[in-house]
Amino acid sequence: MKLSQSLLALATAAGLLVAGPALSAGKSVGVIDHDWSFEGPFGTFDRQQLQRGWQVYSEICASCHSMDYLSFRNLGEPGGPEFPPEQVKAIAENWLYPVVTTDDEGEVLERTPLPSDRIPGPFANREAAIAANGGAYPPDLSLITKARIGYNGIIKQVMEGAGGPEYVYSLLLGYADEEPEGFDGGGLSYNRYFPGHRIAMGQPLYGDDVEYQDGTEATIEQHAADLVAFLTWAAEPKMEERKEAGVRNIILLALFAVLLWYSNKKLWRPIKDGGQA
Ligand code: HEC
Repeated sequence: MKLSQSLLALATAAGLLVAGPALSAGKSVGVIDHDWSFEGPFGTFDRQQLQRGWQVYSEICASCHSMDYLSFRNLGEPGGPEFPPEQVKAIAENWLYPVVTTDDEGEVLERTPLPSDRIPGPFANREAAIAANGGAYPPDLSLITKARIGYNGIIKQVMEGAGGPEYVYSLLLGYADEEPEGFDGGGLSYNRYFPGHRIAMGQPLYGDDVEYQDGTEATIEQHAADLVAFLTWAAEPKMEERKEAGVRNIILLALFAVLLWYSNKKLWRPIKDGGQA
């Protein structure tokens, strides 16, 4: 294959990979493009922002949405909100819901969570969640920023990712007062960014929903951005490690390429110079 062909094949494969969620998640309208600290090959999470995001999740969203794939101990690990160990312990002990488990005889019992436990969600099972939410299922939020897309078009997705964080951010800000005239929600709320615009979740954020301990101003945009940063971390807790490894490997490969170039030159010199060593 020629170089141009190989590049094209590579770009197509990459395009298909990121377009995968696009095909499954349906179309949505253009989302708000927010500048995140975690964007780009050198992007990292802002610890304070992750801590604030956790606060918003636990005080507002946790009454309906679970985070099944996250354990309390993750909140204290490097690359995340990095709460100190005592605080992680306190968060687990004071959590809203108990851990449901069984004793030696198989009896179901409830106990206070430990840092090593997965974070218990608000409902015992899917059916209970749907019944409590008027027939709609509030999805688990552990992987939501990866399960949704915000950007259409392969080029945009290759350059900027699928836009999952932007979609969730827009969704939280999308309960506009400017509900279009003649809109019939049939009991559902209008949301500008939700595909179909009729959503079974009432507006969850208004601004001043939680009081930030670090004194950050509690606007609705701030709440949404903090929360989405937190959800993005939860969906990929090792992002910082992955990016570091990527940059390190590219530097090593570049050095290796230079070495190869010179060894190649040196090896061929006798032949190219007409047989003289
Ligand atoms: C009172 C319960 C309730 C609260 C509180 C709540 N949600 Fe929801 N949420 C729902 C329900 C129900 C749905 C399903 C909506 C639907 O399918 O129409 C939903 C759906 C979602 C979705 C998925 C939308 C999609 O594209 O399918 C996201 C993301 C979401 N909620 C985020 C949040 C966040 C973040 C918070 C906290 C700021 C929050 N929710 C608070 C009930 C709630």
